[in-house]
Amino acid sequence: MRTVDLTIQDIAFGGKGVARDNGKAVFVPFTIEGERVTANIVREKKQFAEAELIEVLEPSAERVAPSCPYFGRCGGCSYQHISYNHQLELKARQVEQAMRRIARLAEPPMRPIVSSPLSYGYRNRITVHAQDDVVGFYRRDVHELMDIAQCPISMPEVNKALTELRATRPRDGHYSLRAHSGPRVFAQTNDAVADALADFIATILASENEFLIDAFCGAGFFAKRLAPQFERVLGIDWDRFAIDAARKDARPNETYIAGDIAIELRRALNDVAASVSPADPNIPRVGTPATTLIVDPPATGLSPELRRVILDSPPRTMIYVSCNPPTLARDLAELQQRFAVASIAPFDMFPQTAEIEAVAHLKAR
Ligand SMILES: C[S@@+](CC[C@H](N)C(=O)[O-])C[C@H]1O[C@@H](n2cnc3c(N)ncnc32)[C@H](O)[C@@H]1O
Repeated sequence: MRTVDLTIQDIAFGGKGVARDNGKAVFVPFTIEGERVTANIVREKKQFAEAELIEVLEPSAERVAPSCPYFGRCGGCSYQHISYNHQLELKARQVEQAMRRIARLAEPPMRPIVSSPLSYGYRNRITVHAQDDVVGFYRRDVHELMDIAQCPISMPEVNKALTELRATRPRDGHYSLRAHSGPRVFAQTNDAVADALADFIATILASENEFLIDAFCGAGFFAKRLAPQFERVLGIDWDRFAIDAARKDARPNETYIAGDIAIELRRALNDVAASVSPADPNIPRVGTPATTLIVDPPATGLSPELRRVILDSPPRTMIYVSCNPPTLARDLAELQQRFAVASIAPFDMFPQTAEIEAVAHLKAR
């Protein structure tokens, strides 16, 4: 182990500060750009090194006291030591950098980041683990459970459920604690920011009204909001419970299919193309009839096969909701063959953590 004094230059996606030691990048968690720190190098690789913070010699004006006693040890939060305003600046910058470096957009059409009305007490669900009478989350960097009495980024209802669960001395296993009742399927984590996200998408799509495909639809969070303005809405997800929930209160113009996106989307886009120009390959398929596609994939982004499906029959308008800017940027690099990127909007769905949600608006060329 080597102890070094470093100047933090930037904060990388994922939340670690980046410094240089003899030209080599050194990642130091819980630091802020501009700070002078002392750190222990704990892992040294050819291209970079990892260090643990020992002392902040010159703190940033953005440094604040964390609200959670577990911060620094718990694997959940990375930014409680940074003022909320600066977290927003940081996340906006990280998205823009990914767009320049990975998506190869010379001038990314960035919209201002949308903040969370609550910077603590916003999470509407958590999963805690129980083992040998310890109930909590895993530690940062180690697969070891930490006993957690309260989680300050979670809603009071979630913390109440945690207190109740702990009182039962639960059996070993995983427990999902939720502020809202409902089917056990994917649900957005921060209610206020999820509403802002859905409103934003509705505004972008205000002039679209024909056929909406909500791929990765879950229980239809976006599809259901937008259904009143579209002639027809198709939702696709492979989670049968989510599709059952979506079907329950579906209007006559909403259809939900349980299946793999790549397969079902190819079928749907082919059907659209065939319904307009069944025989004549010279009739352009782009935007016939006006198809609007929303994708909201997991962090891995779109598979190569799915990107192919979309590029083969591009919808007129596409909204890409992403919880991982690097995979969004990777996919945009390829989708630009057939789409122009009209805007990129970051949303702070997960304050205090390094997670970032972003929405790209694409228009077929
Ligand atoms: C980030 S969630 C989005 C859910 C929804 N848009 C919402 O806001 O509630 C991703 C969803 O994609 C689904 N999914 C992931 N990979 C899939 C695939 N290859 N085919 C179909 N569904 C998939 C998951 O079941 C999950 O519901």
